[in-house]
Amino acid sequence: MMNFGGNSLFLQQKFIQMKKLLFFLAVILLPYYGLFAGEGMWIPMLLKQLNEKEMKAMGMRISADDIYSINNTSLKDAIVLFGRGCTGEIVSDQGLLLTNHHCGYRQIQQHSSVENDYLTNGFWAMSKDEELPNPGLTVTMMKKMEDVTHQVLEGVNEEMTMENRKQKIKENSDALIKKAEEESGYEVTIKDFFIDNQYYMIYNEIFKDIRLVGAPPSNIGKFGGDTDNWMWPRHTGDFSVFRIYVDKDGKSAEYSPDNVPYQPKSHLPISLKGIEEKDFTFVFGYPARTSEYLPSFAVNLITEVTNPPKIKLRETRLDIFSKYANSDPKVRIQYAAKHAGVANYWKKMIGESKGIRRMNGIERKQAFEEKFMVWADIVKGNFGGIIPTFEKNYGEMEPYSLASDYVREAGLGIELISFAARFNNLSEVNKETSDEKIQSLVKAAEGQVKSFFKDYYQPIDQEVAVALLKLYRENQPADFRPEVLNLIDEKYKGDVEAFVEMLFAKSIFNNEAAVNDLLRNFDHRSVKKILKDPAFQAYESMRDFYEQKVGPHLQRLTAQNDSLQRIYMKAQMLMQPEKRFYPDANFSLRVTYGLVEGYHPADAVYYDYFTTLEGILEKEDPNIYDYVVEEKLKTLHSTKDYGPYGDKDGHLQVAFVASNHTTGGNSGSPVLNADGQMIGINFDRCWEGTMSDLMYDPDMGRNIAVDIRYVLFIMDKFAGAGHLVDEMTVIE
Ligand code: ARG
Ligand code: GLU
Repeated sequence: MMNFGGNSLFLQQKFIQMKKLLFFLAVILLPYYGLFAGEGMWIPMLLKQLNEKEMKAMGMRISADDIYSINNTSLKDAIVLFGRGCTGEIVSDQGLLLTNHHCGYRQIQQHSSVENDYLTNGFWAMSKDEELPNPGLTVTMMKKMEDVTHQVLEGVNEEMTMENRKQKIKENSDALIKKAEEESGYEVTIKDFFIDNQYYMIYNEIFKDIRLVGAPPSNIGKFGGDTDNWMWPRHTGDFSVFRIYVDKDGKSAEYSPDNVPYQPKSHLPISLKGIEEKDFTFVFGYPARTSEYLPSFAVNLITEVTNPPKIKLRETRLDIFSKYANSDPKVRIQYAAKHAGVANYWKKMIGESKGIRRMNGIERKQAFEEKFMVWADIVKGNFGGIIPTFEKNYGEMEPYSLASDYVREAGLGIELISFAARFNNLSEVNKETSDEKIQSLVKAAEGQVKSFFKDYYQPIDQEVAVALLKLYRENQPADFRPEVLNLIDEKYKGDVEAFVEMLFAKSIFNNEAAVNDLLRNFDHRSVKKILKDPAFQAYESMRDFYEQKVGPHLQRLTAQNDSLQRIYMKAQMLMQPEKRFYPDANFSLRVTYGLVEGYHPADAVYYDYFTTLEGILEKEDPNIYDYVVEEKLKTLHSTKDYGPYGDKDGHLQVAFVASNHTTGGNSGSPVLNADGQMIGINFDRCWEGTMSDLMYDPDMGRNIAVDIRYVLFIMDKFAGAGHLVDEMTVIE
């Protein structure tokens, strides 16, 4: 339980006030109480206590212990953090692992060449010796977690300064981690929950030999590309297959040809029974970040102040990328990953701002804050200052947040400038710098030159530069932007094109040979070539502006807000003692549950809960890269050769939606049915519900999963890799 020390004692003593308070809560706050079906990312260890009853009422047939147990094998033993940002799940007794295609994209790409283009054509290891190692890729398995709030907060009190508090918590945590690691042999971390109000110690086993087993071609794994991204109805076969290898003793080890497939304690059974509307489902994985308990001012800053210019800046770049990509296939490949990167959060931000407006999110937070102020006044717990201080801080933050976003999205959105920025370390070389140090810096730089120029197309960048700098100058006041932008007035009479022309003509950083020249025999005398380069100077101007005028203010305000948010979180919990709270996502293992269900995205429009192979053929367009359909898939469709993977009506279901509260990091997570069997792989969220990182709307919050039957169909029928399906525990 949480320890609120003096505050809860205070409440107990003030019986009369308490009664008044309860009456007040009952009358005014109740409508705000109930958790909406589907909302929440729950700690597996606490499911029994907080959620089991509701999960069963919603249709679950297994117990909380089947999902998470310290003493017995449970589903949690099959769920892993894949790399650093995705989830994966073990689906065979030989360590076979499923995740998304977009999660394994990097590895698939790294093994691809013109001769063996696995991205385009897919890859299938037909036996274990064809499986491909991926140095650097890890898979993390949580062994157990423990509440260590008491120990971490030992010696911490409310009178301490922010710095002292931090210091003390760090000392306590370090000592606990050291001891736990020595005793357990696992990697141990401590994570904060409820914004520094609770702490859990997490024991992990980290696997280091992870091999690529299979991936569908991109026109299956990424079907619909960025056009369909974040959207429903969806037809993407977003999965890839890996395998965990360990040493002969079954212990995690670096890659070695002698390593053997991992034999897990548990692997997920797979159901071919399919889904019906209103079926119970849950998603088990590693959601990355949410911020559900922010004040209205913070939500306003994100959705009304900073998202709109970021959206505009990204849109400007994307339009230019697309214009060139559509007319030149080479450029399309060069800019594919960049486009995907910029587009993903561009679209997410649009959906998020729209969603908050649609649900009057800011007004709802404001209404809550009014009640909070009344409550704070009644309990006299020193909480009264929180909301006004937030208001002041977030107001003060606005220009700095914008300034920071413009540097990042506009200034460094120009590839020439962000590439020049990578020479910052070399620009600091002087007579005293050792040869060794110089060599290592040069080597690091050389490593980046080739890959940068491989995917660099100057006409795009130059057009982007003009467009971004114009937006920058139009939207940021002269005293709130890097000096280099004011130079455009002084030296170029405000002519952005002329400035950009000069930048690209005089800089060496858009010329591979010139950059290689610079790096050849680099010594302290070479530094001036960097320092006098106009692209590097542009970067320096942005860096100095940020470091002097923006960063310090942002850091100060962020630290204050974080500290305030901790107290606000605690107060929100005190104020609503009956409410079941879930902690914000923090890259720890969580369970979220909901129902398979469609939704109304707009007036008079209803989206059904599943898609089929027919929809892929409806979307087919041989002229648009993202909508090309493989011949083999068309043949399988026309002969209805779906094997055991088709549904009872003779269709092949491809994807489905359910009301599980997911976020980034849940990519690759298993979607499970009432019996704890896998029915899909989560890979996205519906656009209309993307504000769920800030505020969940039960009517619009839907996660998108690829149906496991489509996954197995692609492996078995399409790719001829049925031996992988044979490894799994498939329930017909
Ligand atoms: N929107 C999904 C997730 O965020 C998929 C992203 C990858 N796909 C893409 N087309 N960029 O974050
Ligand atoms: N595609 C996301 C990911 O990579 C999951 C979608 C979401 O944000 O809900 O984690």
